Amino acid sequence: MISLQQVTKVFAGRTAVDGLSFDVEDGEFCVIIGPSGCGKSTTLRMINRLIPVSGGVITIGGKDITTYRAEELRRQIGYAIQSVGLFPHMTVAQNVGVVPRLLGWHQTRIRDRTGHLLEMLNLDPGIYSAKYPRQLSGGEAQRVGVARALAADPSILLMDEPFGAIDPITREALQTEFARIQKELRKTIVFVTHDIDEAIRLATRIIILREGKLVQHDTPENIMTNPAGRFVTEFIGTDRALKRLSRLGAGDYMKKAPSIADSEPLQSAARFLLEHPYLWVVDRNGRVLGWLDKNDLEGAEPTAGLAMSCLDHRTAAVTTESTLKEALSRMVQQGIRSAPVVDRKGALLGEIRMEDILEA
Ligand SMILES: Nc1ncnc2c1ncn2[C@@H]1O[C@H](COP(=O)(O)OP(=O)(O)OP(=O)(O)O)[C@@H](O)[C@H]1O
Ligand SMILES: [Mg+2]
Repeated sequence: MISLQQVTKVFAGRTAVDGLSFDVEDGEFCVIIGPSGCGKSTTLRMINRLIPVSGGVITIGGKDITTYRAEELRRQIGYAIQSVGLFPHMTVAQNVGVVPRLLGWHQTRIRDRTGHLLEMLNLDPGIYSAKYPRQLSGGEAQRVGVARALAADPSILLMDEPFGAIDPITREALQTEFARIQKELRKTIVFVTHDIDEAIRLATRIIILREGKLVQHDTPENIMTNPAGRFVTEFIGTDRALKRLSRLGAGDYMKKAPSIADSEPLQSAARFLLEHPYLWVVDRNGRVLGWLDKNDLEGAEPTAGLAMSCLDHRTAAVTTESTLKEALSRMVQQGIRSAPVVDRKGALLGEIRMEDILEA
């Protein structure tokens, strides 16, 4: 457990963090959010002992952090900093391996670990290991920053706007990916963001800061249903119902999806479409290619594959790890009333229906 008790930070007479107290339990995903300059990064830096507190106490595992040896802290805490901060003269692999090297790991162990982490963050090690930071896009660099923070398998992760430089679509994908990773790894995470949607999506508990003071510390559900005053209400914004959808997993709302192979004669579909409004069309490997409805029966095409309306699963489908909010946005973009759920290869697993979203 990480515990802050009455922690204060004063820079040259100005108070940046003001009597801050909160606990982060083991395995919790704590998101700190608040306007620019409210003291988020300063709080992370104090937990990491990069800067000393001006007052108060921070403990990790019940022990005052000032009593830890630097190396003990480094092993326990992974830190992804706000500006990414990759070392420009080191390759991606060397950047990821920095802390393991400091801890004296054997070379082959570092190489295996680095490869594994890059893969986990969807950066092909064969392509990315030897690249230099200047050869990466902003989003790739941030993913390398996250891999580096995870390198020595620390029990605590401090992440300062790790997805800040990433476009909204990649960002949503990374959030999904990160939520999945966290389900497996069960780290204790303190995560800073400006983005309330990101906070609601990822957090087990959210801390809202204003001018260095804690305004509310609660679960995303309670913050949305019981915001502590106008500041929080305004911070959350108006579309609370939509935001709630980002906490619901597509996997939990998936229904069985009717489908037909593209090579099947159109008559087979016709019988089915007497009772159901539409039918997914899949290839030999079960990959979604499109759908059929009654309108598609009017032409003279012989097979389901030739008569269907095409659909690209990469833009129209969701995975079991997606959220209902993503499913809804796919439906709206594509003008469809249900979104196919596919596995990593695009094979149809089921579907999310508009009526189930409205009910949720
Ligand atoms: N090293 C420093 N010296 C002096 N003042 C500082 C220093 N670091 C931070 N501050 C001040 O402390 C306050 C809090 O800064 P901090 O970086 O923690 O904000 P933040 O919440 O992370 O903001 P942002 O969302 O913009 O990253 C700001 O007013 C900032 O100017
Ligand atoms: Mg900051």
